[in-house]
Amino acid sequence: MPTILITGANRGIGLEFTTRYAADGWDVIACCRTPDHAEALRTVAQAHPQVTIEPLDVQDHPAIDALGNKYRGRAIDVLLNNAGIIGPLPIAEHADRQSFGNMDYAIWRDVIETNTFGPLKMTETFVEQVALSEQKKIVSLSSTTGSMAEMSVPAIAYASSKTALNRAMTTVAGELKERGIIVALFCPGYVKTRMDAFGFALLEITDSVAGLRTLIADLTLEDAGTFTRYDGTPIAW
Ligand SMILES: NC(=O)c1ccc[n+]([C@@H]2O[C@H](COP(=O)([O-])OP(=O)(O)OC[C@H]3O[C@@H](n4cnc5c(N)ncnc54)[C@H](OP(=O)(O)O)[C@@H]3O)[C@@H](O)[C@H]2O)c1
Repeated sequence: MPTILITGANRGIGLEFTTRYAADGWDVIACCRTPDHAEALRTVAQAHPQVTIEPLDVQDHPAIDALGNKYRGRAIDVLLNNAGIIGPLPIAEHADRQSFGNMDYAIWRDVIETNTFGPLKMTETFVEQVALSEQKKIVSLSSTTGSMAEMSVPAIAYASSKTALNRAMTTVAGELKERGIIVALFCPGYVKTRMDAFGFALLEITDSVAGLRTLIADLTLEDAGTFTRYDGTPIAW
């Protein structure tokens, strides 16, 4: 069976991905910051022995290197960069700290470290494992808030971290395409997770992940460097 490595696998979209791939029999390397507090993920792993939980904070580059060494020589079909933050929670109380005139630069740094540096560092570290695999896919969850053409939200830290992720990953996509590796970006939609602190999201996690899994399964090299919504519609940059 194929192998997938998922960051932020303990809740929200990452947990649903883990649950679904595990149910299909995939080997899942399910990374999360604090496995001791990841009860739902541990339940999935107990039901599916081919799920391995690995402690990983994507801001911790030495830890990423160590995990890369641990899995050296192992084929990883899909690297799924899912982990992300919007800023301090609850966002409804802290949103103004990433707005113009009131910017908290420590927050911006934290968000960029997680949402931009994290996926890049994971990709640099695990690219050889992906290259060894059959499917050769590197997928990152971005956001339409990172699109300069489609959306403008006042959350400067979050939106810009995703814009930067998009730019970085399209560059990587061009380079890795020559090696047969597909690098693609997706927006999961506005989903009912912890991130939806305003309570406005209408999309169920199950529906978002079902759509994304179909798109990931159908990825070909032609899709390298694309940015697509969970329902298959392309997102303008
Ligand atoms: N929900 C939406 O509407 C929406 C829309 C567009 C894009 N997205 C993107 O979808 C992805 C998943 O978000 P979600 O909605 O499932 O949010 P979520 O429920 O808040 O889950 C975020 C996950 O990322 C993990 N994480 C955060 N910082 C991390 C770090 N430094 N190292 C490792 N893991 C870390 C969290 O771990 P802890 O539990 O330890 O905090 C959690 O597992 C994110 O990249 C997000 O930007 C979501």
